[in-house]
Amino acid sequence: MFGFTAITLSTICVCGNADILTGYGNNLFASKTGYFWTHPAKQFILNQFNDLHYNNSTCKAIQLNFISRHAARYTGADDMDSFTLLQNKIKSSYKNTNYSFIQSWVNDYPTTKESSVTKLGIEEMNYLGEKFGYALLDLLRSKLNTVKLRCSHSQRTNTSAQAFFKGLSKAVNNSNVLHVLPAVDDRVTHFYKGCSNYESKVEYNKTYMHEMYDFQKTPTFMNMVNGIADRLGMLHILTADDAKMMYLLCATEVAIRNRSEWCTLQTDSDREILEYENDLEDYYLRLYGHPVTAAMTCPLVQDVFRSLDHALYRSKSNQTYPVVDARFGHSPTIGALLAALGLFKDVHPLTAKNYQTMKHRLFFDSSVIPFSANVAFILYECGHGTPKTNFLKLYVNEEPVVIPACNSVTCEYSVVRRYYSDMVDKCDWNNVCKSVHFSPSNIVG
Ligand SMILES: *[C@@H]1O[C@H](CO)[C@@H](O)[C@H](O)[C@H]1NC(C)=O
Ligand SMILES: *[C@@H]1O[C@H](CO)[C@@H](O)[C@H](O)[C@H]1NC(C)=O
Ligand SMILES: *[C@@H]1O[C@H](CO)[C@@H](O)[C@H](O)[C@H]1NC(C)=O
Ligand SMILES: *[C@@H]1O[C@H](CO)[C@@H](O)[C@H](O)[C@H]1NC(C)=O
Ligand SMILES: *[C@@H]1O[C@H](CO)[C@@H](O)[C@H](O)[C@H]1NC(C)=O
Ligand SMILES: *[C@@H]1O[C@H](CO)[C@@H](O)[C@H](O)[C@H]1NC(C)=O
Ligand SMILES: *[C@@H]1O[C@H](CO)[C@@H](O)[C@H](O)[C@H]1NC(C)=O
Ligand SMILES: *[C@@H]1O[C@H](CO)[C@@H](O)[C@H](O)[C@H]1NC(C)=O
Repeated sequence: MFGFTAITLSTICVCGNADILTGYGNNLFASKTGYFWTHPAKQFILNQFNDLHYNNSTCKAIQLNFISRHAARYTGADDMDSFTLLQNKIKSSYKNTNYSFIQSWVNDYPTTKESSVTKLGIEEMNYLGEKFGYALLDLLRSKLNTVKLRCSHSQRTNTSAQAFFKGLSKAVNNSNVLHVLPAVDDRVTHFYKGCSNYESKVEYNKTYMHEMYDFQKTPTFMNMVNGIADRLGMLHILTADDAKMMYLLCATEVAIRNRSEWCTLQTDSDREILEYENDLEDYYLRLYGHPVTAAMTCPLVQDVFRSLDHALYRSKSNQTYPVVDARFGHSPTIGALLAALGLFKDVHPLTAKNYQTMKHRLFFDSSVIPFSANVAFILYECGHGTPKTNFLKLYVNEEPVVIPACNSVTCEYSVVRRYYSDMVDKCDWNNVCKSVHFSPSNIVG
């Protein structure tokens, strides 16, 4: 996919194909956005993340803790069936011959592919592995065998982990590509499963999701749906759910074969509105709606900081430890982790009424939690004498973010650790997730 040309000793260029864009306007496809659509592939820079200069001393990376959403994938079987139903519905009543593709479109996505990673997804993970491999080359050199990979019970996270490692290993030692398989660790990657407090208060609570439903009833949303119906020449027959399904169909097809005529039915402004509707759902469902969402991530946050503590201790005593500790989960894994860390928190919550004023919000699903969305904790050791100082940097989708503990992109490790100590040292998931009132029979919706 990518061609490499060394420019200088310290820079490696991703030449050609640097942008894998959809070609459909603003690339806003909410939670079904391919990673490259909002984060075009960048140059690989040798040791880009390896060294940190602080107080005139040079700090070296000693560990990468990585958490990622699985890569771009086929959608679920239910949605694949709904695509055909949508086509049949429109086929019998649209009048605009500009969209005659609807007659001949064939839903040829086999259900056996359900939820599996697409070719684009493999490229995303190969890229990320290679990117971090080059960026941390000094750290990884001859230590690939210490890399630790974990995934959830689902195959798409397993496939993602393997593709990431392949890229990493290619960058570090092209002549010796190792094959390492991930281990399943649902406690850390799928902590929301079975958290009944979360399920009853948030996940299955329709009342709780009212901002999204209210937004569907606003003139902004209804005019968008009617606009699509108008273009098709089938006024008043298209529903909000049909418009959402068409949006999903477009994004899914682009992720599978880089094109979809269904996308031509939406304008950039339609996509902004459809994204907002989806963002309203994910903002409340995955991030900042309810404190239980952040609290239930403690097994993951604890795991990350224990791994960092371990690396610190082992590095000081010159013993081996995993130089990369990578975990592959799902969009709820990343969403809740970002909430736990206090990132992408808009001053005003997203609501059905503030679509216009939130146009420049921090939280866009398409850029924050696209497929292959990733959070990287990089731990550094500074100075040659004793006592050594340790710093942490946090990268989201390859970009450094301001760490709330010091309001700076570089923060002393002990300060960050103390900031999150409730989750690290007092994690009591059973208690956080216990819901005295919850049984599947009182699920609303
Ligand atoms: C995908 O399609 C767009 C628009 O046609 C094109 O610019 C891009 O190069 C294509 N990407 C790939 C990977 O084929
Ligand atoms: C950085 O240097 C300043 C000035 O010498 C010193 O006060 C400060 O403690 C140093 N910071 C760290 C984290 O070592
Ligand atoms: C860093 O080095 C410069 C030049 O030697 C010196 O002026 C400055 O005070 C040093 N800063 C710290 C924080 O030590
Ligand atoms: C069909 O597309 C052409 C070219 O873009 C456009 O001029 C025409 O108005 C369209 N027809 C309808 C009915 O939308
Ligand atoms: C690459 O792999 C070869 C063969 O296993 C090994 O001898 C060499 O040390 C490795 N190089 C690096 C940089 O890891
Ligand atoms: C991951 O997938 C590979 C096939 O690529 C399979 O051999 C392995 O058993 C899977 N691991 C887990 C934990 O499911
Ligand atoms: C569902 O959400 C509403 C609104 O936030 C809340 O009042 C209600 O208590 C929630 N239901 C449950 C079962 O927690
Ligand atoms: C650390 O361990 C490595 C390999 O075991 C050894 O080559 C190196 O000299 C050791 N460094 C220190 C400072 O003890």
